[in-house]
Formats: sequence, structure tokens, C-alpha cells
Amino acid sequence: MKIGLMGLGKLGLPVALAIEAKGHDVVGYDISEQVKNIVEAKKIPYKEIWAQEHLDKSKIRFVSVADVVSHSEIIFVPIQTPHDPAYEGITRIPEKRIDFDYTWLKAGVRTLSDEIEKQGKDKVVVIISTVLPGTIRREIKPLLGEHTKLCYNPFFIAMGTTMRDFLHPEFVLFGVDDETASSKAERFYRTIHHAPFYKTSIESAELIKVAYNTFISTKIAFVNTLMEMCHKLPGTNVDDVTNALKLGNRRIISNSYFSGGMGDGGGCHPRDNIALSWLARKLDISMDWFENIMMQRERQTDWLADLIEQHRQAEDAIYILGKSFKPETNIQVGSPSILLKNILVERGHDVIMYDPWVDETAPAFTKGVYFIGTKHPEFGEFVFPQGSVVLDPWRYIPDRAGVTVVRIGG
Ligand SMILES: NC(=O)c1ccc[n+]([C@@H]2O[C@H](COP(=O)([O-])OP(=O)(O)OC[C@H]3O[C@@H](n4cnc5c(N)ncnc54)[C@H](O)[C@@H]3O)[C@@H](O)[C@H]2O)c1
Repeated sequence: MKIGLMGLGKLGLPVALAIEAKGHDVVGYDISEQVKNIVEAKKIPYKEIWAQEHLDKSKIRFVSVADVVSHSEIIFVPIQTPHDPAYEGITRIPEKRIDFDYTWLKAGVRTLSDEIEKQGKDKVVVIISTVLPGTIRREIKPLLGEHTKLCYNPFFIAMGTTMRDFLHPEFVLFGVDDETASSKAERFYRTIHHAPFYKTSIESAELIKVAYNTFISTKIAFVNTLMEMCHKLPGTNVDDVTNALKLGNRRIISNSYFSGGMGDGGGCHPRDNIALSWLARKLDISMDWFENIMMQRERQTDWLADLIEQHRQAEDAIYILGKSFKPETNIQVGSPSILLKNILVERGHDVIMYDPWVDETAPAFTKGVYFIGTKHPEFGEFVFPQGSVVLDPWRYIPDRAGVTVVRIGG
């Protein structure tokens, strides 16, 4: 296929070379003279495996924006979206938080879209740059003319191994705005590899990209906390500990426990977290990660209580369906749905709880707000009184006439 790149920086150039290596006809443009020189002199000044040897024999042409547009069926846009240097991570994080800087990306997309309109033919434009959720719709879409068919396709690649990671990804993430454009991009990716092509809304794709990264940060924060603990606890060794955890590849390193819902529960996890938080304080660990996990659970439960209050009309009863800490059991220890009840009671509400796995008899059900605290399969068939609102943090309750189902996070 005929492919173009708007931006040939540290991501764009190695990706261009990887695409060319799969037999495509690639051209590129970059606003920077320095980058133009790199491409024309065929000398990459940064470390990227495979890139230099591919550039040595590359036929990629550095052309004008007009030529990128006229040549290409698909145009990739990997323009920088930097953060203020104060947020780089080499100094303390400032009290004030700010978004990335989209100035360059907006300017580049506007130039590209204007040229596409001038030439008057539909073009698929695939933005790769990292952005926070909501940015493409708010900042980018208003800049586009009718012939620009947009997709958002952030990459999960690491600098230094860009070509390898692009050619052998875990999956391809596609935020879809235009179905025809995404089908064309999917056909293109099938010429590169057979990794899963995961399509979603633009906004979800934006979030997935940053969530993927922060999840890795979370894992690192977690093992580093263990490292500090081991340093302070005689007889322990962090590698022994993490090597054992790595063997837990069914429950720890897998997709288990990886769907949005209520907080963690049961007789072990919350208790262990709280105990470790105590130990972290005792050992003067610099960051009490375990408290962090528990505060997230508690504050999110407070937020769920807020949601119940927001959806409740005067005189509505509040019901929590499910008392047990997980589906299809009557064990209630450490149950996040009971935590939710206690927070609501603390706020002065009367709450009726019912769990078919725990209770012999059911209470009378009247119009109200129904919160699904435990994902028991029975609640999928539950008959909610007309006019009720159902809040479902598991997103499995089907729609039904006369009832408003709110799927939290769905
Ligand atoms: N480098 C990576 O490994 C990597 C990985 C994943 C995501 N990303 C994301 O990809 C984006 C690009 O990252 P990068 O590391 O390649 O940055 P970079 O600064 O190395 O490259 C960006 C390039 O875009 C060019 N550019 C700027 N404005 C332009 C315009 N109007 N027209 C044409 N070219 C223009 C710049 O001159 C530069 O060469 C960022 O959003 C980054 O977060 C990068």
C-alpha cells in the first residue's frame, strides 16, 4: 500500500522503516530540518535496534505535505505531545497538575487536513501520538475537513525497540471514528502481523493507552515497595519474593481480577493490605502503597454512595442487592457491598440489603434505587419495581421497560 508519515521523529522514522520492510511504498514529511537531514544523510543519532541497517537500504522519500497527501492511502501522524519539563519525573511533582501540550499536534493536523481538503479526496489519517482521554474529540476533530477520515491508533512500543515492537505487538488498538477508515487500516495491519485488532471508541482508546502505561507504573511501584520492605526485613530477599509471585501466572499475571466492579473483598486481601500498611509504617517505608490501595477502595465506595444519592428521588428506598464478597457464595467477610451500606448509613440513610445466597426470605421491594453489590447471576433476572433506577457496577443487568439501568463505567 501507499503509506505516508506526518512526523519522522523517534517514533515516526523507525515505524516508517518497519512499514517499508513489509513491502509498502512509504513517504514522509517532518517540519524539522534536523530530521530531514537524518533521513537524507541516512544517519540515526539515537539508539534503535534494526533502524540503522534498514535506513541504510531504505527508499523512503522525504517529501512535502502535498506529496504525502497525494501519495498516501493512509497517513500516520506521530507528532510530539510533550509534558512541561517540570513533570518529566526527575524532580518532585509540582502541586499543580497540567495536561500534555497539544500545540504541535494541532498545528500538524491542521496543515494536513487543509492539504487534504485542497486535494479534495478522502484520506485515512491515523493519529499515533499519546493524548489524554477526550483530547481528540475536543482538540483535533474541530480542525478536520470532510475528507479527513480519522482513526486513533496509539502504539505500545518502547523506545529503543520501536521497529520490533511495531512488527510484533501484543495487540493493535484502534479508536474508531469512521468504520471505512478503520477497515482500511485493519487491511493494512494484516500485511504487517496477525496480532488482535482491538476496536473501540476514540475515548476508550485514549484511556487504554495511558492506562496501559500507568498499570506498568503500578506494578513497578508495587515491586519497589516490596524491595524496600525486604531491605528493612532481615531474612527476606526481594528477588525470591518477586520470582515466586511471577509463578502465579494464573491469578497475578493474567486478566483475572481485571474487570471494573466493586473493590477487592474477602477474608484475605483487604486484611492483608491493612496489615502490610501497618508494617509499612512501622518500617518507615517511604510510600505506603498498601494504604493507597485501601484508600482507593474506600474513596471509590464513597463515590458509589454519591452515585446512589444522585440517582435517588425523594421517598425512594435504597436497596443493595448482594451481601457476599463475590458471586455464588454466602461468605460476607470483607464484602465491599457491606462497606457501601455502612457508608450510606453513616450518611444518615436507611438501606435494605438482600442476598439470595445469604437470606432465607426476601424483603418487600418497592420503587427505589437498586445497587448491585454482588454479581450474583440471579440479579440478571430480578424483577425491579417500575420507575426504579438500577446501578450496576458489573454491567450485566439487561435493559427492561419502565426501569432505568445505569451501567457504571459502561
Ligand atoms: N517514541 C516513542 O517510543 C513513543 C512510543 C509511544 C508513543 N509515543 C508518542 O508518539 C508521539 C511522538 O513521539 P516521538 O518520541 O516520536 O517524538 P519526537 O519529538 O521524536 O517526534 C515528533 C516529530 O514530529 C515532528 N513534527 C512536529 N510538528 C510537525 C508538523 N507540523 N509536521 C510534521 N512533523 C512535525 C517533529 O519535528 C518531530 O520530529 C508522542 O505523542 C509520544 O508520546 C512515542
